[in-house]
Amino acid sequence: MLENKKILLGVTGGIAAYKAVDLASKLTKLGAEVRTIMTTHACELVSPITFKSITHQPVVTKMFDIDADIEHISLADWAEIVVIAPATANIIGKVAGGIADDLLSTTIMATTAPALFVPAMNVHMYENPIVQENISRLSKLEYFFMEPEKGMLACGYEGKGRFPKTEEIVYFVQTYLNYKKDLEDIPVLITAGATRENIDPMRFITNHSSGKMGMALARAAYARGAKVTLITGNISEEIPEYLKCIKTSTALEMFKVTTKEFPKNQVTFMTAAVSDYTPEEPSIQKIKKADKMVLELKRTKDILLELEKKKTDKQTLVGFAAESEKIMENAKLKLKKKTLDFIIANNLNVAGKDDTEIIFIGKKSEEKLTGSKFQVAHKILDFIFRK
Ligand SMILES: Cc1cc2nc3c(=O)[nH]c(=O)nc-3n(C[C@H](O)[C@H](O)[C@H](O)COP(=O)(O)O)c2cc1C
Repeated sequence: MLENKKILLGVTGGIAAYKAVDLASKLTKLGAEVRTIMTTHACELVSPITFKSITHQPVVTKMFDIDADIEHISLADWAEIVVIAPATANIIGKVAGGIADDLLSTTIMATTAPALFVPAMNVHMYENPIVQENISRLSKLEYFFMEPEKGMLACGYEGKGRFPKTEEIVYFVQTYLNYKKDLEDIPVLITAGATRENIDPMRFITNHSSGKMGMALARAAYARGAKVTLITGNISEEIPEYLKCIKTSTALEMFKVTTKEFPKNQVTFMTAAVSDYTPEEPSIQKIKKADKMVLELKRTKDILLELEKKKTDKQTLVGFAAESEKIMENAKLKLKKKTLDFIIANNLNVAGKDDTEIIFIGKKSEEKLTGSKFQVAHKILDFIFRK
């Protein structure tokens, strides 16, 4: 998704400037051409040579530099996206106030490319109503913002202001290269991961679902402005702070939470791999070793069936069918049997992988989609919201 993309990285004088080096590295490794503008204060914290060595591209620090290979406006025209990371309170304030007094602020003002700000600062600075007003003003003008994370800040304070994980920033960059906030405020429910059915206090039955497809959908929908609620079973990934997440373990827990959340949402994606069976009676004590053991299983409650009963005309329900054989046949059968709006069929061998190959089946059409799970997630959203 980033191959040959022209990304302009604006680094300002926040303590997280050193983390922007990792961001520049990740974007470069993914095939993007990353050029960097550093403010004078950023250069106090990290050397421009570091960015030049990582990106193998020019780094510009001054507007009035007679020796610079790049003219001051040309980067604004060159960029397909401008990423200001970290973004200080100062640069946010300057852009919100229409000030263009250095190379970065002038470039942001002059570009027609999308701009993504990644604020990072002291919690009181971030919560300052002036900063919040500036963010809100710029957001209304279609500048994109990521929320900082909560935690221990470099200044010693605990609170919101930390630079987000660079892999999360990459997802947002990938999104805003192609999309705007076109799903603003649409409530979307996504289940992800594998459930665990307890046999005894130590042992459980589960499956190979990693939750990656659900996470990709959640990230993609959130970045496009949707109000995402994620319900997880066991998943292999860390859940980013910006996602509202309800953690469950067993199929019964997932049933209860999903049926409760469902009426509040417009679109629901059932990507979780929910166990069809659960032990008849889980043992309270750890089961002792024996020569042979017979485990009695009973059916779990069918979440999809329950949602279908509750579904209104205004809601869209999307099911997933992971099959090891006769993928299309089985998926179409599921679509017919259930009152699903769409079904996404995939082969079981994509479980746990970053790339996927799916067939998106609607009542009247079908489409094969391949690529990274994040890329495919965006295409699925395009289909659902008919873009
Ligand atoms: C060590 C140090 C760390 C700083 N960290 C931050 C920060 O994380 N966020 C921020 O908004 N300002 C931070 N500042 C203040 C900015 O550097 C200051 O507001 C400056 O004017 C920003 O200029 P610039 O936006 O042109 O880079 C820091 C200052 C110092 C000395």
